[in-house]
This record gives sequence, C-alpha cells and structure tokens, in this order.
Amino acid sequence: MSNTTTAERGAVIITGAAHGIGSAYADRLSSDGYPIVIADLDEAGAKAKAEALIADGGRALAVRADISKEEDVQALVDAAVAEFGTITGLVNNAAVFSVVPMSRAPYDEIGLDEWDLMMRVNLRGTWQMCKAVAPHMAKNGYGKIVNISSGTALKGSASRIHYVTSKAGILGFTKTLAREVGADGIRVNCIAPGSTLSEENASEKDIEYRKSRVGDRALGRVQMPEDLSGAVSFFISPDSDFVTGQTLVVDGGSCMH
Ligand SMILES: NC(=O)c1ccc[n+]([C@@H]2O[C@H](COP(=O)([O-])OP(=O)(O)OC[C@H]3O[C@@H](n4cnc5c(N)ncnc54)[C@H](O)[C@@H]3O)[C@@H](O)[C@H]2O)c1
Repeated sequence: MSNTTTAERGAVIITGAAHGIGSAYADRLSSDGYPIVIADLDEAGAKAKAEALIADGGRALAVRADISKEEDVQALVDAAVAEFGTITGLVNNAAVFSVVPMSRAPYDEIGLDEWDLMMRVNLRGTWQMCKAVAPHMAKNGYGKIVNISSGTALKGSASRIHYVTSKAGILGFTKTLAREVGADGIRVNCIAPGSTLSEENASEKDIEYRKSRVGDRALGRVQMPEDLSGAVSFFISPDSDFVTGQTLVVDGGSCMH
C-alpha cells in the first residue's frame, strides 16, 4: 500500500555538506533522487560539491551560510524554497569539529569564547535551522529532520567537554522537537556517529588517531563517512515514516545503548 502521507520528493538541505561526513550524506541522498542544498560556511567548497552532484546527474544548489546567524539561515531556506519549491528533509550536520577546529583540551582549559562558539553553532544553529524549515514542512504535512549527535554524548570522552555537551544537547533537542512537531507530520530523528575518518586529506596522525578508536568496536575497523550514509538515507526516506524521536548509533558496535 502506498503511503499517502509521503509528499513529493522535495529538496534535502544538508548543513556542513561541503566537507567530511556531510559530503557523503549529499552523495547518498542525491543518488536516492532528492535535490540537494549544500549549505556551508565554505562557499567555494559548497559550490564544488554542488557541481559534482550535478555532473553526476543530480540536482543541487550551493548556499554559503553560517548556521549560527539567523539572517543567513533565513536566506538559505528562502533560496532552497525558491529553487526547489518543496523541502522534504533537513540534515543538521554542520558543527565545530575539524574544518572549523576545536581544542581537544581538558575541561578546565577551554576558553569562554570557544565554549560559546560551540553552543552557538552546534546547538543554537541546529535550533535556528529547524525553526526556519519546519513551517515549510508543516505546510505539506510532511517532513524529515535528522540531527547529528555523537557517540561521545552517550559514552563520555576524556577531553573536549564543550563539544560533548553540545552533542548531548542534541539528544534531548531531538526528542522534544519530535513531540512538538509530530502533529504537523514532521519526523525528527538523530544519528550518533562513532569516531570517523572524515578528513579529506587525512594525515598519518589523523589515521593513527582513528585507528586508536577501533579497539572497543564489535566490528573492528576504522569508520568511514560512507558507513553513515545508510542511516541518513533511512531517516530521510518514507521507510522511516513511523519512526520519530529516535537516536541511532552508527559506530561499528562500540556504544550499545
Ligand atoms: N568525524 C567524527 O569522528 C564524528 C564523530 C561523531 C560525530 N560527528 C559529527 O558529524 C558531523 C560532521 O562531522 P565531520 O567530521 O564531517 O566534520 P567536519 O569538520 O569535517 O565538517 C563540518 C562541516 O561543517 C561546516 N561548518 C562548520 N561551522 C559551520 C557554520 N557555522 N555554518 C555552516 N557550516 C559550518 C564546515 O565548513 C564543514 O564543511 C558533525 O556534526 C560532527 O560533530 C563526527
């Protein structure tokens, strides 16, 4: 039986999709048939990614946006609607992580400015994106929001407490928003990736660090961005239409919650 609540295949906005794991999400969702909006601080990177998707036969739009700035977020969503009409999905992937780097410092050595930036981008940016996109989804009675947390929010981590705190916030945010917007047909889910080799030109040090995270995994190998693509595809697709408020850990069986 076809799912009558499923809207036409509208665009998916992916924040932070110019690099790393977001770029792999864009590849997968484009090959699933969705028009993709690449939203990133890095304008040249976003354009290059959108051009690559178009060269592969997809539909894509690049928009330079800082998700921590409300005016950028509104302009991004307006551009997406102007180009593609309907927005089916939003993947809140952008974060202060490695392209915009964080210090992996002990809790008492993190500066106030970096703490505030972390919360402004990872948490407030995610909230602002949802506020701007949800009314468009509500108009269609259908939408898919995927937030990105981290396995560190479930397990803890012996450094970078500001990052882990922001990613723990995403877990409660996901559940609360799912309850608030369910009546509008909007599903809100979350992916918690394990330590992933997401650097484009990974150094020996990056590779050694990722290898050091393998030990406690049931599936003992380095995690790659593509390992996360199936989860995002499922949460954006109609296959997950009766799933909301959930967090799926994708880490090769390190954190089993
Ligand atoms: N790589 C990992 O090991 C890992 C593990 C768990 C969770 N995650 C999460 O997965 C997501 C992607 O991680 P990644 O490794 O690809 O990170 P990354 O640093 O490689 O990429 C993040 C992207 O977000 C963009 N960005 C940063 N700040 C922005 C802002 N204010 N506005 C718009 N764009 C902005 C960057 O330009 C970059 O393209 C992040 O949310 C991260 O916290 C990563």
